[in-house]
Amino acid sequence: MDKIVALCKRRGFLFQSSEIYGGINGFWDYGPMGVELKRNLKNAWWEDMIQAHNDLDVLPGAPEAYSMTGIDSTIIMHPQVWKCSGHYDLFHDMMQSCQHCKKLFRADHVAGLLTESEWVASLKKHVVEFTELKEAVAFEPNELQRWLEKKAKNVAPGLAAIHDIPGFMERIRTAVAGGSVSAGELLQLLGSPLGGSLALPCPACGGLLNAPREFNLMFQTYTGALQSEENMAFLRPETAQGIFVNFKNVMDSSRYSLPLGIAQIGKSFRNEITPRNFTFRSREFEQMEIEFFCHPNQSSDWYRYWRDRRMQWYLDLGMRKDRLILREHETSELAHYSVGTADIEYAFPFLPPGEFGELEGIAHRGDFDLRSHMEGKLDEKQRPLKVQLNENGQPKYRGSGKDLSYRDPITNEKYIPHVIEPSAGADRGTLAFLCEAYYEDQAPDENGEMQTRVVMRFHPRLAPIKAAIFPLVKKDGMPELAKEIYLALKKHWVVFYDEKGAVGRRYRRQDEAGTPYCITVDGQTLQDRTVTIRDRDSLEQVRIPMDGIVEEIGKRLRR
Ligand code: GAP
Repeated sequence: MDKIVALCKRRGFLFQSSEIYGGINGFWDYGPMGVELKRNLKNAWWEDMIQAHNDLDVLPGAPEAYSMTGIDSTIIMHPQVWKCSGHYDLFHDMMQSCQHCKKLFRADHVAGLLTESEWVASLKKHVVEFTELKEAVAFEPNELQRWLEKKAKNVAPGLAAIHDIPGFMERIRTAVAGGSVSAGELLQLLGSPLGGSLALPCPACGGLLNAPREFNLMFQTYTGALQSEENMAFLRPETAQGIFVNFKNVMDSSRYSLPLGIAQIGKSFRNEITPRNFTFRSREFEQMEIEFFCHPNQSSDWYRYWRDRRMQWYLDLGMRKDRLILREHETSELAHYSVGTADIEYAFPFLPPGEFGELEGIAHRGDFDLRSHMEGKLDEKQRPLKVQLNENGQPKYRGSGKDLSYRDPITNEKYIPHVIEPSAGADRGTLAFLCEAYYEDQAPDENGEMQTRVVMRFHPRLAPIKAAIFPLVKKDGMPELAKEIYLALKKHWVVFYDEKGAVGRRYRRQDEAGTPYCITVDGQTLQDRTVTIRDRDSLEQVRIPMDGIVEEIGKRLRR
């Protein structure tokens, strides 16, 4: 991962936001390469899911033919949207703060998601003595007790165990039944939620953590001049709600009938407590969401269709099968309204081996969203919203009261559509494709010596630069011909012209940027107007007529 992060900075894929001021946690900027990569990913999604979607035929796995269209809604919406969606009341993480170092943590991270290595790493930083014990093979409980009573008080005064050493030692002795404690066992004991004085220590300093409390993830702002409660507004935490509240507008203004998918790409904001793992968990990020509206009787079939179709999309763009999994949620994991949810997860290199991180969720949402925006309350099976009351004791937030149901033009049946929601992260997708593309191999340098080559093996559709054009030398009319090619290709794709330095070095720079094709104008070009075209992955070079270059690159990119 360190190599990928370094490459992203070096080659202009990703920069920390406001870097010259020391950066701001959870915000990232895309550089010249990154902006193209992310745009290509979003374009591939829009093209494949919406624009080029075949709405005339029944696609394999689909119950029937369907339509797709898109919208672009605002980031700030009526606050009632968030009340009815449930975000105002329910969209929070449990958070714990450390009494000692004052840092904030997500409670679930402290309680288990923090891996042993992360925990040891943070302890190492702050409690050197303690980790020396961890590195010892085993030690007697008495030894541990002496360490706690004497040294630990100085080096880790906030460590939860120190506040009740007898209680802690009793648990240790019970757990190891008179034997010695291995380093792993000790960490497990400290890391397991045994309660009481053995409550989990702060992952940063080993200090006492306050009890978990709710922390809403929506960024709050105000519209207009007055910062009053009436003017309170929120930055959207998902693009989905813009689609639900426009469902009726789309149906009324178009000739679409159900089944219909409405898509949106846009920024979302979440005040994540612990943004981390590069762009994986950011506070500002982009989503690519589809809300697919269908008849309730068919919704389970559509759920399976979308789950499989979305999985295949990542594979088609070059993700390796062994790094991607489709994980169906257990019933206990499902949101209260959900009939089924599956996550598409990727083996990000910052995760321990065998662990996967979510790229996209595909959720069967039943009629929860449209019904909530109609009625503002949930049926008995669903969890009630904490409705705020106004000064007359009436609910302050209600549903829109608008009829968002659908009448089938052929059968005349009226129903509230069910929704299947494939919800993907554009930044997480970009990060996954960056990780997937990173490759090191051996290739000859300009002197014929084998060297390690860093190559970003992006799918040609995703590659930021599609082709680079080089004159072999900067004389003899070669630059003029190379520029002619460059200008012809530039009308169609992002291409790059480079005449500086040894040609081998120029190839390497393009390999590192993930450019699939390099075109070189050489001595022979001057005689017969042919050029070489080099393939990034196979390193194969073939000669082709320079006048057919636009067709050739087009053909290769479509493959
Ligand atoms: N409308 C449903 C929804 O928003 P989600 O699982 O919360 O579902 C969908 O988000 C996708 O958005 C995730 O799979 C992930 O790719 C992306 N995402 C969510 N939170 C993110 C964050 N803090 N940073 C980057 N991407 C995020």
